[in-house]
Amino acid sequence: MTKNLTINQRLNSNLFPVGVATSSFQIEGARDGREASIWDTFCATPGAVKDGSDGNVACDHIHRWQDDIELVSSLGFDAYRFSVSWPRIMKACGSVNQTGLAFYVDLLKALKDKGLKAYVTLYHWDLPQYLEDKGGWLNRETALAFAEYVDVVSKAFNGYVDCYATLNEPFCSAYLGYEIGVHAPGKVGKQFGKKAAHHLLLAHGMAMQVLRRNAPDVTSGIVLNFTPYYASTASEADAAAAKLAHDHHNDWYVKPVLTGCYPDILHTLPENEKPDIHDGDLALINAPLDYLGVNYYTRSFVAACSHDGFRILPPAADAPVSAMGWEIFPNALRDLLLQLHRDYDLPPVQITENGMACDDALINGEVDDPVRVQYLQDHMNAVAEAMEAGVDVTAYFVWSLLDNFEWAEGYLKRFGIVYVDYDTQQRIPKRSALALQRWLTRRKASN
Ligand code: NOJ
Repeated sequence: MTKNLTINQRLNSNLFPVGVATSSFQIEGARDGREASIWDTFCATPGAVKDGSDGNVACDHIHRWQDDIELVSSLGFDAYRFSVSWPRIMKACGSVNQTGLAFYVDLLKALKDKGLKAYVTLYHWDLPQYLEDKGGWLNRETALAFAEYVDVVSKAFNGYVDCYATLNEPFCSAYLGYEIGVHAPGKVGKQFGKKAAHHLLLAHGMAMQVLRRNAPDVTSGIVLNFTPYYASTASEADAAAAKLAHDHHNDWYVKPVLTGCYPDILHTLPENEKPDIHDGDLALINAPLDYLGVNYYTRSFVAACSHDGFRILPPAADAPVSAMGWEIFPNALRDLLLQLHRDYDLPPVQITENGMACDDALINGEVDDPVRVQYLQDHMNAVAEAMEAGVDVTAYFVWSLLDNFEWAEGYLKRFGIVYVDYDTQQRIPKRSALALQRWLTRRKASN
């Protein structure tokens, strides 16, 4: 029997939505029902994905979505965060894939019927390959194509969505995808990263305009990932390196969105690494947000380095780590929220992703994941502490509902609170899911 979750008062009210999250490419499968995305191409590149797998079947969610939604509901969650696959909606010829659109409308209707709030992410990394063929996020036109797709989707979803996120983690799309090439489309070069990032942020700004027009009553914003960077020693050089890492990887995204300015490092970039900023871009990017989505998993230590200015170090040998090798450090989530609150005039914050990969094993029909249970409890309590210190946090989502395609790791890493047996597609709630279910049931009864 797993212990009961002990969660601080602040999250113990039914008014605080607790949800679970997924994304299209990671769970849907049904490759034949859509255009190719950059992730299909990347998966087909030898050596790109650790287990050589792809998203052709994934969790077969397209055929099992009703059961999956029933699972979200029976586990007691208030909300479901999922993403829409752009290549399932917009065909290469420019027309709309009505079957693809209908899939999401049916899903949204089912969520409403079950009383689940729908949190819809419009871009979770699966760019149509036909747009990558024209330069992808290095091409400004991709931002305009995104706005057209958002127009189609937000008109069709009218009345069913509680919350929109334009982009999920543009840092990963830009830096991992176009600068160091470990994610799709696998481009490598410092001259690409910040250019791609700018066009992604522009796409966000343009999409916000469309959402304000088509969905004025829906809470709309963006989801960013943050890794708090800590200096590896007390030296001034390492402190400066940690600040530099923060400027490049965190502030590069949140600062223009919230203030309309890039961090000062913009001016120190070599000319060929500078983004192509047109007049008016930053005003668009700085569109007022209803909320900021924060994805948090871990922190990192940083040391000064003469080559790049900073070097990110692996966790200390004795630090607790997840199956991804990421340090488990809940206090950094509290401190990150406090720092954002200090640095910016913040809109309400949602924790849009938090969770961990464990080496889960199905034994006698059960999956015991005590480390994940502790992780979730400690991180929810870190959020509650930040709320007590004045940060306005309005939702919390566990990543993820299901074990799924973990990008360059393939199916080797399991983030789900529900175990997926990929041979049978059976879903088996792990002890963490059952602990959350007990807590959410108690919470409902006591409010
Ligand atoms: C963030 C991403 O949004 C999600 O797709 C991914 O699976 C998790 N982090 C875990 O790496």
